[in-house]
Amino acid sequence: MSPFLVFFGLVVLHFSIFVNAGCKSTPGSDGWPTDEQWAVFNETLGGQLIKPTPPGAVCHPDQPTYNSAADWSTFPFHRNDPVSTAANNANNDTCLPDTEYTCSPLGYPAYVVNATTAEHVAAGVIFAGLNNIRLVVKATGHDYLGRNSAPNALSIWTRNLQGITFDDSFQPTNCSSAIVASALTTAAGQTMAELYKASDANNLTIVGGMGEGVGIGGYITGSGHSPLSTSYGMAADNLLELTLATPSGDIITANECQNTDYFYAFRGGGGGTFGVLLTATIKTYPTPAINMITLTVSSYTGPTDDYWSAMTYILTQFPTLSDSYISGYPYLIPTYPVSATASISTYSARFLDHLSGFNDTSKISALFDPIISHITTTWPSLTISNSTTSYPNMYLNFLANYDTSAAGTDKFIGSRLLGADVLSGNTTALNTALRGVSQGAEFGTFLLGGQGVADAQPRGGSDAVNPAWRSALAHVVADLSFAPQNETAKEEASALMDNKVQYLRDLAPDSGAYINEAFINEPSWQTAFWGSNYAQLAQIKKSVDLNDVFWCHPCVGNEGWEEVGDSLCTV
Ligand SMILES: Cc1cc2nc3c(=O)[nH]c(=O)nc-3n(C[C@H](O)[C@H](O)[C@H](O)COP(=O)(O)OP(=O)(O)OC[C@H]3O[C@@H](n4cnc5c(N)ncnc54)[C@H](O)[C@@H]3O)c2cc1C
Ligand SMILES: *[C@@H]1O[C@H](CO)[C@@H](O)[C@H](O)[C@H]1NC(C)=O
Ligand SMILES: *[C@@H]1O[C@H](CO)[C@@H](O)[C@H](O)[C@H]1NC(C)=O
Ligand SMILES: *[C@@H]1O[C@H](CO)[C@@H](O)[C@H](O)[C@H]1NC(C)=O
Ligand SMILES: *[C@@H]1O[C@H](CO)[C@@H](O)[C@H](O)[C@H]1NC(C)=O
Ligand SMILES: *[C@@H]1O[C@H](CO)[C@@H](O)[C@H](O)[C@H]1NC(C)=O
Ligand SMILES: *[C@@H]1O[C@H](CO)[C@@H](O)[C@H](O)[C@H]1NC(C)=O
Ligand SMILES: *[C@@H]1O[C@H](CO)[C@@H](O)[C@H](O)[C@H]1NC(C)=O
Ligand SMILES: *[C@@H]1O[C@H](CO)[C@@H](O)[C@H](O)[C@H]1NC(C)=O
Ligand SMILES: *[C@@H]1O[C@H](CO)[C@@H](O)[C@H](O)[C@H]1NC(C)=O
Repeated sequence: MSPFLVFFGLVVLHFSIFVNAGCKSTPGSDGWPTDEQWAVFNETLGGQLIKPTPPGAVCHPDQPTYNSAADWSTFPFHRNDPVSTAANNANNDTCLPDTEYTCSPLGYPAYVVNATTAEHVAAGVIFAGLNNIRLVVKATGHDYLGRNSAPNALSIWTRNLQGITFDDSFQPTNCSSAIVASALTTAAGQTMAELYKASDANNLTIVGGMGEGVGIGGYITGSGHSPLSTSYGMAADNLLELTLATPSGDIITANECQNTDYFYAFRGGGGGTFGVLLTATIKTYPTPAINMITLTVSSYTGPTDDYWSAMTYILTQFPTLSDSYISGYPYLIPTYPVSATASISTYSARFLDHLSGFNDTSKISALFDPIISHITTTWPSLTISNSTTSYPNMYLNFLANYDTSAAGTDKFIGSRLLGADVLSGNTTALNTALRGVSQGAEFGTFLLGGQGVADAQPRGGSDAVNPAWRSALAHVVADLSFAPQNETAKEEASALMDNKVQYLRDLAPDSGAYINEAFINEPSWQTAFWGSNYAQLAQIKKSVDLNDVFWCHPCVGNEGWEEVGDSLCTV
């Protein structure tokens, strides 16, 4: 018998001692379906039920699924597996791709519905509800907060919900008039790269992100930022209609005319909480040409006062850049290794103009020439280089510049949204905050909010996007990796991340943070992620999911339950 099976046997025995009426069922507890009931369920799904093997087993030569070619550090590996997640900590490191560690399925869902139809999704929701089983939704596994996985759960895997169609003038279901806008309707399992590609074939684009494998399901339910947000708002602000499976397993259509609570909550209220998104109808735009400036500012003598002053100065220019609808992806890298023994402090940024037309870099030059010359004359110890590139459309910009970060580590993210008040306010305080959030490590200061987000007109009057986004210009994001299977290392990393984010909270106490790229241990997370929208969201959660069929953390209305070891129990 393989070590894997022996271990699984022990796990089942272990769980038989947890019989608690206040907890969701776990294998071996009263109420957990028998093998026969799972088999019947599988039949109702037309055979689409999976009992997953832990994905890290592909890297263990003693496991049956061993595959020497598997690449754990790539997002596609995790996206294409029913339960794998890009962040190892989402599964509590129970099967790492490293033979130094044991490999058990303990941290992963017990069963997966490999959904290819709306009916599969609804059947999964109903089965979990009836049997009091913890339910999670996974699309691509990109989530930084581990909301996509849980032990002893039934997981609905939406990646295989596929299909994209286009419409010149979209008629919302049961609404009396058409929305005079072109739109696409996508199934929830499609990724950003797929949506850009399909749109581009029609000379269109969407308000989409820069992660090629990010799925529309988690992205748009969390709000979704984009290089085009400075003009057109968040992705959620561009959602015109959706279909979903409710917590009671009904398949419904939500828009400004019907099921308006769901329509509100699915646009920023967070994934895995109010039901399962099945399709999303999203506004499309003529694809714009993109003019990009790449800017590098380097200090060969380390992270000096000059370096931090210049970093602060560039942030103070965000309000002016934003007035011209510029977006950007700058990284501050105080320690960038250039050889085995040497490193430099650098700033590596791409700023995008999507309004001037192909090959017209005059606007970007007019905006950045004074910035570059101010840095050159004020801080002569710094070296600047810059270049411009033009892309005829959004898709080619995306293909050239999508996020190439690696998957497959244990890490925390921490972030804060900063508005013009902070960016054009006290520069001493801003300088202190940048040093504090960094503490030697790199981080992003993305320029993504602005007029388009502030002035967005979501259909139906409002949506659940964090109000902090409406006055934000910068989304500041740090990440921090930590050693696996070491609770001390994890606690230390959490404390350090909290300390980093605290500098930003102190700087912008009335702002908030972006749920999809946020610190999982954020204090007062309800306010940080949803602000004044939280009360309404919590009310909707209570009215549509009284029994908490959907539960995740940090997610709206989850306060009645807590994780106790591998179980989910009422508080
Ligand atoms: C490399 C990278 C680049 C990124 N770039 C951007 C960016 O440019 N802009 C941006 O805004 N964000 C970006 N993100 C963050 C991204 O929005 C989140 O990671 C998001 O949660 C991913 O959603 P997913 O569906 O792909 O992932 P998953 O991990 O599968 O799911 C994320 C969450 O959404 C839920 N969910 C997924 N599908 C559904 C559904 N159909 N119905 C209900 N709930 C669902 C899951 O339960 C989970 O809670 C990036 C992330 C990464 C890793
Ligand atoms: C579900 O049924 C299919 C087809 O009969 C089968 O291949 C699969 O292994 C079953 N799943 C489980 C968990 O038994
Ligand atoms: C999921 O379902 C699709 C469609 O039936 C199938 O092609 C795919 O192999 C399934 N995936 C797994 C891991 O079983
Ligand atoms: C897209 O634009 C190009 C260039 O203007 C044009 O040749 C092509 O026909 C357009 N394609 C569609 C589908 O409209
Ligand atoms: C349209 O409205 C009718 C009447 O309220 C309702 O029965 C029907 O389900 C709605 N259609 C859709 C697709 O939601
Ligand atoms: C755009 O600029 C490039 C480089 O300067 C040039 O080769 C190309 O012909 C230009 N294209 C258009 C359409 O102006
Ligand atoms: C960038 O650098 C070049 C010199 O390489 C300079 O001529 C140009 O004006 C600079 N500024 C911008 C905004 O491109
Ligand atoms: C600016 O911030 C610094 C440090 O955070 C503080 O000491 C100072 O009083 C502030 N200045 C003003 C004018 O508020
Ligand atoms: C995660 O694993 C550690 C051992 O590495 C264990 O101490 C801890 O209880 C586990 N957490 C959960 C929630 O299962
Ligand atoms: C766990 O992490 C702590 C803190 O980083 C470290 O001191 C300790 O050596 C680590 N333990 C192991 C077994 O690696």
